[in-house]
Amino acid sequence: KSFLYKLWKGDVSSKMLNPRLQKAMKDYLSTNKHGVRFKGKRNSKLTGDQLFCELKERVNVRTIDGKEAPFSTLGWEKHVPQIPLGKLYTHGFGSCAVVMSAGAILNSSLGDEIDSHDAVLRFNSAPTRGYEKDVGNKTTMRIINSQILTNPNHHFVESSLYKDVILVAWDPAPYSANLNVWYKKPDYNLFTPYVQHRRKNPNQPFYILHPKFIWQLWDIIQENTKEKIQPNPPSSGFIGILIMMSMCDEVHVYEYIPSVRQTDLCHYHELYYDAACTLGAYHPLLYEKLLVQRMNKGLQDDLYRKGKVILPGFKSVKC
Ligand code: C5P
Repeated sequence: KSFLYKLWKGDVSSKMLNPRLQKAMKDYLSTNKHGVRFKGKRNSKLTGDQLFCELKERVNVRTIDGKEAPFSTLGWEKHVPQIPLGKLYTHGFGSCAVVMSAGAILNSSLGDEIDSHDAVLRFNSAPTRGYEKDVGNKTTMRIINSQILTNPNHHFVESSLYKDVILVAWDPAPYSANLNVWYKKPDYNLFTPYVQHRRKNPNQPFYILHPKFIWQLWDIIQENTKEKIQPNPPSSGFIGILIMMSMCDEVHVYEYIPSVRQTDLCHYHELYYDAACTLGAYHPLLYEKLLVQRMNKGLQDDLYRKGKVILPGFKSVKC
């Protein structure tokens, strides 16, 4: 049976990845750049429903609110939006789309279906212009990593991609989630461009995710995986899925678990090929995907043909 077929069934291990990816995973484990010290147990064998309830109970979407040091001392309470992310929409959203940037979404003709959702989440610099037929054109929220704010190639200040949407930024912090250490030595310094952007665009909702939220997700992935996962933060895709599960009644995730269109083309908008984009090298992407596959409530046929997974929102299910 093919790797893809096994992934659809949730029956793969890292041993089935190509040797280069396996080597990269090993190297990240031995480097442990973020100082991960996992204290829990691995391989708790939860069913999809139990896993969903575990996430619902433990996941707390948190953003920097300016009340903790060093941000409190630096006057961040007046820099961050007055309305917290979770309270932007009092009743949340009905159905939501999470659109992954994978090359496999090309030629999917999913655009109309994606735009029919109440809210659409996209990632980093993924465009809609020129790709409407496959990815739609509505964008409600964009999750951006710290490189988008700091790398001049992304034109964060000028680009229309980052206007008229809710922005949620994140940066890999130490596993200790010590905000003082993180502030002094972020992976990429997102703090300065964040404050500048907030000053210039005070009405645009723009948040920075709290490192505790990100590492809490990592802990849950590791607890529910037999193998040792990469000691690096989950991908923006997984972070985004969890944010939408906390804000929406139902979440439709596109081309996270690849469809029959699976390809090594990293992004639909870029001519660059690397299997790591879909299966992970830095991020524990394969393991994230196995958890999402376990919780999928959608049809198998939608998974094969559309690369679509359906997850209930946290408020839609009693645990
Ligand atoms: O590469 P980037 O992080 O901008 O892509 C957004 C998200 O889409 C990733 O974090 C990952 O979860 C997902 N993705 C994927 N397969 C790809 C490319 C991206 O699952 N080939």
